[in-house]
Formats: sequence, structure tokens, C-alpha cells
Amino acid sequence: MEGIDLVTQSYGRACLHPQLIDRFYEIFLASHPDIKPFFRHTDFVKQKLLLKTGVIMLLTHLEGKSAWTENLIHIARRHSKQELNIPPSLYQFWIDSLISAVKEYDNKWNPELERIWRKILRAGVDFLLEHYDHVEAT
Ligand code: HEM
Repeated sequence: MEGIDLVTQSYGRACLHPQLIDRFYEIFLASHPDIKPFFRHTDFVKQKLLLKTGVIMLLTHLEGKSAWTENLIHIARRHSKQELNIPPSLYQFWIDSLISAVKEYDNKWNPELERIWRKILRAGVDFLLEHYDHVEAT
């Protein structure tokens, strides 16, 4: 997918700051009243690491490499109607929160980069949502 290298490099620069994912969850949990209750039993030490890696999986998949695609399907199913049942309408808050957090820490941030980030995260969310209502093969 076009622009994926720029986004991966931007995420790499932002990840040099260990606070990035803390900041993401701070912004995300406050971004909509329906979000926080989903995380009431969550171990955030584990969750922050899973999310940090999850974004890498998403970017690698969108780069056209299939190494992490199975893991991504697992993540998609976890969020699906049959499991966590995360409403599709909440994904826009996830995108906006990740953008806000990366923007604070990537010193090469610019409007064109933001446009590409948004396009790519949208494609990533669309992948997750393709599995929102998955039916197990019987
Ligand atoms: C593309 C967007 C997203 C990605 C890449 C993502 C990534 C992840 C990953 C990697 C996990 C860990 C899965 C595991 O335990 O194996 C997870 C769990 C979870 N995610 Fe997401 N997520 C996304 C969007 C969302 C949204 C919009 C919500 C809305 C509330 C959400 C809520 C949760 C919850 C509640 C868990 C389970 C936490 C727990 O185990 O207690 N996620 N997510």
C-alpha cells in the first residue's frame, strides 16, 4: 500500500518515546464514554505491549507481507460481534487517538504525513471490521 514506508518510519520515530502507548490509552479512553468500560478488567501492562505490537502487525500486513496476517485475524475475531463486540462506530476514535499520540512524539510530523496515516489506519480498521460478524466454519 502506498505510503506505508513513511507511516512505518513515523511510528518508529514515535516509538522511540516510551510514553507513546501510555499517551495513546490516555487519549483513547477519554475520547468516548463507551470505551473505558470495555477495559475494566484489562491488565494494562500487557495490553500496552500487545497494542504496540498490534500496530506493527497491521502495518506489515498492509505492506503486503503475510507473516502476521494470522495474528491479525485472531485480533479481529477478538474484537468481533461474537467476542468483545466492539461497535464499529468506535474505531474512528481509535484512529483519531493513535494519530494524536503519534503526532505528539514524531518530530517530522506534517499534514501530508497525517493524510497518509489516516488512509492507512482506515484500511487497517476495515480489515478488522471484515471479521466483525464472522461465522465459524462448521
Ligand atoms: C485497528 C484498531 C485496533 C487494534 C489494532 C487493536 C488491537 C488490539 C490488540 C492487539 C489486542 C490484544 C488482543 C489479545 O489479547 O490477543 C486488543 C484487545 C482489546 N481491544 Fe483492541 N484494537 C483496536 C481497536 C479497538 C477498539 C476501537 C476498541 C474499543 C473499545 C478496542 C478494545 C479492546 C479491548 C476491550 C480489548 C481486550 C482487553 C483485555 O484483554 O482486557 N480495540 N486490541
